[in-house]
Amino acid sequence: MLNQLSITNLRNITDLSIKPTPAINLILGSNGSGKTSILEAIHLLSLGRSFRTRTLKNVVQLEQQKLQIIAKTTTNIPIGLQFDLHAGLQIRLNNAPLKKLSELAMQLPLQLIPANCHQFFEQGPRYRRQLLDWGLFHVEPSFNFHWQSYRKVLQQRNSAIRQHKKIAEIQLWDTHLASHGEQITTLRQKQLARLLEQFNDVFPRLCPEYSQASFTLKYRTGWAKEYRLEESLRLAIERDKQIGYTRSGSHAADWAFSINNIDPAHIFSRGQQKLFFLALCMAQAKITEEHLNQESSILLLDDISSELDPAHQEFVLDELSSLPVQSFITSTDISLANSSEKSKVFHVKQGEITNSDS
Ligand SMILES: Nc1ncnc2c1ncn2[C@@H]1O[C@H](COP(=O)(O)OP(=O)(O)O)[C@@H](O)[C@H]1O
Ligand SMILES: [Mg+2]
Repeated sequence: MLNQLSITNLRNITDLSIKPTPAINLILGSNGSGKTSILEAIHLLSLGRSFRTRTLKNVVQLEQQKLQIIAKTTTNIPIGLQFDLHAGLQIRLNNAPLKKLSELAMQLPLQLIPANCHQFFEQGPRYRRQLLDWGLFHVEPSFNFHWQSYRKVLQQRNSAIRQHKKIAEIQLWDTHLASHGEQITTLRQKQLARLLEQFNDVFPRLCPEYSQASFTLKYRTGWAKEYRLEESLRLAIERDKQIGYTRSGSHAADWAFSINNIDPAHIFSRGQQKLFFLALCMAQAKITEEHLNQESSILLLDDISSELDPAHQEFVLDELSSLPVQSFITSTDISLANSSEKSKVFHVKQGEITNSDS
């Protein structure tokens, strides 16, 4: 959670300072006023990258040399980030240079709900795995170790395949790969069970028209279910040699929640798809909160008003106000300013905050 945020020379924001509330922060303003740029700054601070562009030089204000973001967490830890067109990215956490980006993510667990999040169902398995693994990263200390180890061994195996090494040499990696892969699978299944439970609790409140529906979980491990992973790798060695990489394993896993055994994508309206994604993120935030003894996570919700009518927007705000997360929500609808007592409102115009009490 942040209790202070200053942004300099980021897109149309020259100089902006706010003191966010630990609950809901509503960022209201017309198109192009700088709302998403504020979310982009927070995302940059937590993950060291933007969600809008791969090249940070696009984020630096035109005709400027560098952007800066300075913040303080509610536990009084200072975080400073600077991107200079020449010197590149520099991040300081607690007054010392940052060693690994994961330290930052650990300090500020953040989930982004982009404006087009109803497209969740069109995204591939990689996106769904990332969403699931985000929660595991924060909740299960051993997950990161298994995942990093798995990735390293997978790279080694793939490179042995590409170099046309002998089968016995490729298979040297199988025991390690399989052991981390099986652990990852166990942790993912455990997390999905927790996620489904919380999701089933939250979703009916966001989408009362589906309050009677029951969701069930489908998980594909990434290899044929009748085998252990090591066995599966052994059986598929000729195929892997042919295609030039390791096809089966935890890197090919996928999952879905289906509703009365139907894929929600086939029956949900866009608004309902958006509510589905929101409920998933809220469920993750709840689980994360239960496991972290430190401070709460951050939720960025870009453009709450797209696809959602006023009643459903209110359900979302009500639910958020009962969650122990800090949220930053943007909208062009200034009538939202009167919607929630627990929220703090920031009006943005041409990159500046126009209400004085911010
Ligand atoms: N590098 C940049 N330098 C200056 N202005 C920029 C830069 N990149 C984008 N902009 C402008 O910043 C404004 C704010 O964009 P954005 O935060 O997306 O607005 P909103 O989300 O409020 O609609 C837009 O007018 C955009 O054209
Ligand atoms: Mg925007």
